[in-house]
Amino acid sequence: MSDVRIVGTGISIPQKILSNADLEKVVDTSDEWIRTRTGIAERRIAAPDVATSDMGYEASVRAMHDAGIVSEDIDAIIVATATPDYLFPSTACLIQSRLGAKRAFAFDISAGCTGFVYALKVGKAIIDAGNAEILLLVGAETMSRVTDYEDRTTCILFGDGAGAVVLAKSEIPGILSVSLGADGDGWQLLYMPGGGSRIPATEESVRERHHYLKMQGSNVFKEAVKAMESASIEAIRKADITPDEIDLFISHQANYRIMEAVRRRLDIPSEKVFMNVDRYGNTSSASVPIALEEAVRSGKIRRGDIILFSAFGAGFTWGAAVVRW
Ligand code: UT7
Repeated sequence: MSDVRIVGTGISIPQKILSNADLEKVVDTSDEWIRTRTGIAERRIAAPDVATSDMGYEASVRAMHDAGIVSEDIDAIIVATATPDYLFPSTACLIQSRLGAKRAFAFDISAGCTGFVYALKVGKAIIDAGNAEILLLVGAETMSRVTDYEDRTTCILFGDGAGAVVLAKSEIPGILSVSLGADGDGWQLLYMPGGGSRIPATEESVRERHHYLKMQGSNVFKEAVKAMESASIEAIRKADITPDEIDLFISHQANYRIMEAVRRRLDIPSEKVFMNVDRYGNTSSASVPIALEEAVRSGKIRRGDIILFSAFGAGFTWGAAVVRW
């Protein structure tokens, strides 16, 4: 059986910055509280005419350029997002159309902030099964459109952006393992009530602010730490490596305290943890591919390095992956 590798990365980051000082003017919060509780200093906000597929498209073009491929080479496009342009068609189809990737099949994955790690597992399985050779995986979010800027417990956390990778069949092993999990019992701790078939858009649903994300932060925090630790341990075991072989830990960027707790439990030294939560906040499924691209670009990842990804999100869903670069 052949292997699967990441052969290109790209990101799209909106220009507009929303700082903690900006949020102090909107809700009862402080720069000090946000920094100490989350590690976030600022996040990016998409321009009003920009939606998830626009950022996903831009990140895809950059990843394709990095991989040295053209649209006709792509066999499949998978987009992980909790904030699609439309409920249907999929954001993957919108990106496929703009790329002119006529040969590609395309679909979205809904796994909250874990979406990109889910996409990695699904993408690898598609290639392993001989159904494709070159895939585009995208994590893209416009979280600002579902964030309630009257709710100080959530609005300080989220930001917009997109990251994409090209996944390809290869002779050299790249994706060494991916471990996924889910527990739907936690669905109400992090969800958006409105806009689906349960509570469609009505004047009342808008008045009740149902079209915004709701989260019970401290419960999610505890579950995230436990699940990311156990998924990481499983992925490390499946990859047949030891934790000290990990060169870089790229966690979902939700909160530096969560990353720090997982790092300690896994006994990974702090200098091996990549963090950019201070600049982007939580970009949900975009956070892992954005962090990956920045780590590559800043020279923190070299050929042959072993990287651990882990993520946790709405569902609940969680996952971890071990990748050789
Ligand atoms: O991406 C998917 C998963 N999402 C996450 O992983 C997010 C997980 N959760 C978290 O990151 C943290 O739980 C938060 C950052 C959301 C909150 O931090 P916390 O340490 O869990 O705080 P808390 O919710 O227990 O709230 C502590 C206090 C409360 O006041 P009282 O009840 O102690 O008087 C809150 O009302 O902090 C208050 N508070 C704030 N104060 C100033 C909550 N939000 C704010 C705020 N500014 N923005």
